[in-house]
Formats: sequence, C-alpha cells, structure tokens
Amino acid sequence: MDRRDFLRAGAAAGAAGLGQLVAFPGRTLAAPQVPGQEAPSTSAIRLNSNENPLGLSPSARMAVERAIAEANRYPDAAREELASAIAARLGVKADNIVLGNGSTEILQIIVQASDATHGTLVMADPTFEAISFYQRTLTYTTEKVPLTSSYAHDIQQMKDRVAAGNGPAVVYLCNPNNPTGTLTASAEIDAWIEEAPETVQFAVDEAYFEYVGAPGYWSAIKWIQDRPNVIVARTFSKIYGMAGMRLGYGVAHPETAGRLRDFLTWDNANSLALAAGLASLADDGLEARGRAVNEVALTMTRNSLDELGLEYLPSHTNFLMHRIQGDVREYIGRMRDRGLHVGRPFPVLPSFNRLSMGLPEEMEIWAETLKDFRQKGWV
Ligand SMILES: Cc1ncc(COP(=O)(O)O)c(C=O)c1O
Repeated sequence: MDRRDFLRAGAAAGAAGLGQLVAFPGRTLAAPQVPGQEAPSTSAIRLNSNENPLGLSPSARMAVERAIAEANRYPDAAREELASAIAARLGVKADNIVLGNGSTEILQIIVQASDATHGTLVMADPTFEAISFYQRTLTYTTEKVPLTSSYAHDIQQMKDRVAAGNGPAVVYLCNPNNPTGTLTASAEIDAWIEEAPETVQFAVDEAYFEYVGAPGYWSAIKWIQDRPNVIVARTFSKIYGMAGMRLGYGVAHPETAGRLRDFLTWDNANSLALAAGLASLADDGLEARGRAVNEVALTMTRNSLDELGLEYLPSHTNFLMHRIQGDVREYIGRMRDRGLHVGRPFPVLPSFNRLSMGLPEEMEIWAETLKDFRQKGWV
C-alpha cells in the first residue's frame, strides 16, 4: 500500500465525518496490564490492548465533569438510571442487568456463583483468558478446546468435554473471539443452548458485539428470559472508549442476575463511570463513529499486509491477527524499539501477532515500519 492508498483511506475517514474525531485527546491513560505484556509508556503508539483510540466521547467527558460535583455521594441513583438505560437499549428489564467494574468482573462472578464440586470450565484455545484466571482459586477443572480450522469455537468438541465432565459446567463462549477476531455462527450456539440442561451455565462474552456487521451473527441475549443458564457479558471498554473507567454489565434472567449480585462489591461501578456510560448511551452517533474509524484502520492494515503477502484472519473486531515471518517476540520487541506497542505472544498461534486498531495516522506509522522491517528481512 503506498501513501496514496493511505490518503484515500484517510479521505474515507473524512467523508465519514471523522476529521474532528481523530483529534480527540484522551490517550494518556496507561493500558490495563495483562500477564506477559508490559505496561506501555504513554508516549508510545498503543496497538496492543484492543482499546478505542478515539477516547471518551465529548458528551461523556462533559458528563464526567458534571458528575464530579456529586462524587461525595454514593451512586445508587446513577446505578439505577444506567441499568434502566441499558435495559431500554437492549429491550429487556432493569432487573436483567448486573453492572460490573468492567465486564471482567461479570466473568469473575459467573464462575464464583457457579462453582461446584466436580464442576468443569470449558473454554476455547486461544480465547480471552480472564475467566480461567478467576477460577483458579475455585474448584473447577478447566478444559481448553482448540478452535476449528476456521477459528470458530469447536462446539461439538466443547459439548463432548462438558459431557465427559459428567457434572455441572461453565461454558465460556467469546463471540467474536479474542485474540482471533473471528466469529462462531450464532445458530450453532443457539442449537447448543436449546438442548443443554440447566446444569450447563453459558457465559457468552460479547465485548466486541457492536463492531460486528456479519450475517449469521446475533446476540445470545435472546435467551435470557427463558434460560436462566445463559449470561451475556458486555462492556463499555471497547466501542464506548471507556477501558480506563471500568464499566461493563451482564444480562441474565432476573433470578440469575440476583444470584450474581450476591457476589458483587456493593456500589461497584463508580459515579464518574456511570455518568460517562449514561452519556455515551445517549450519544446517538457514537457507535457509528467508532465503527467507521475502525473500518478505515482495518482497511489500511489489510492493504499493507496484502502488499507484503502476510496472511491475516478475518477480523470482526477492533483488532486483527496477522502472520509474522520470524519470531513474534522479536517482532514485538523491534516494534517497541520504534515506539509501537503491538500485541503480545499467544502460545498456540506462535507465528501470528494480534494488532489492535489505532487512528489512521497511527496505522500509517505502523505500516511504514512494517515495510521497513520487510526491507530488513525481518517479516
Ligand atoms: C473478550 C473480552 N472480554 C472482556 C474484556 C475486558 O473487558 P472489560 O474492560 O470490560 O473488563 C476484553 C478486553 O480486552 C475482551 O477482549
């Protein structure tokens, strides 16, 4: 991809009305630290934690400033207001919503609330690991099932592992999946939920739901009224650009939601995050703007990889898994030396790197660097 292609992609961003958006400040918070990943310096270009490079929306910033005046008060009213706003958006009731300090807190309380002697946690490999960390102090046996050749969850294999456990199970389905960015057909998930007994607890992680536009993909929220064994986790960290504020939620049957709440810290979501969440939900164009910037970045990335003949997986998220010729740790280190934080190693995909999407100008710097690496024979 040459400079002209980049400019064309940039012009597409401009046409989508993104010119002023890409100038948002708000990129100075340290990224969450994940095992195996160093905390990046704030001056680096951060393409490694699947964050939203646009930052908080202007309306959320204003809401946070206003909410500071009430920071000495407990946030009960704001909690109720946000739960109602989320419920209205999803077409469910407020008692279906469990607010979390990020959606990882929802994953934590799912395993805590479901813990049972001889229980099995069944998850894909690779997938988002948080739930397996949270079960380590509990009594689960963890079963990791490789993805299929098209990087979907291997539902049949997962079912077999549940059956072999011969007891209660938690099934973690990350759709779209992190770190691959790939989808599992929602119809396949539906078919399993439909036939599964109540002893199989489904934790469906839809952290990247808002980025997906593919046919054959829909939310598992459709099940929550009829199936108390289905919990969907969603987050404000991604499309809403609030990763540092820590706000997520679970959607479940009222009885399940009540059981989960027993494991929550009281008043767990802070009042500034609640205010930002409420304002973000009310910001009509926010999701479309986030998707449009992401699409520009993905197009630029794919074009650069095509030009160098580097294979990549079909991403339905704000990150993309692409092949690296050579050692991925060395590649990450070399990018870091150039001020670019790109992904972290995933042991089951040793020749791939996960690249999070940044602003178009950040992707341009990444692409130029990658090209330089090719000239040096490094990728
Ligand atoms: C699949 C998935 N779920 C959950 C999270 C964490 O979300 P939160 O910031 O809401 O805890 C991430 C973050 O990268 C993720 O990839």
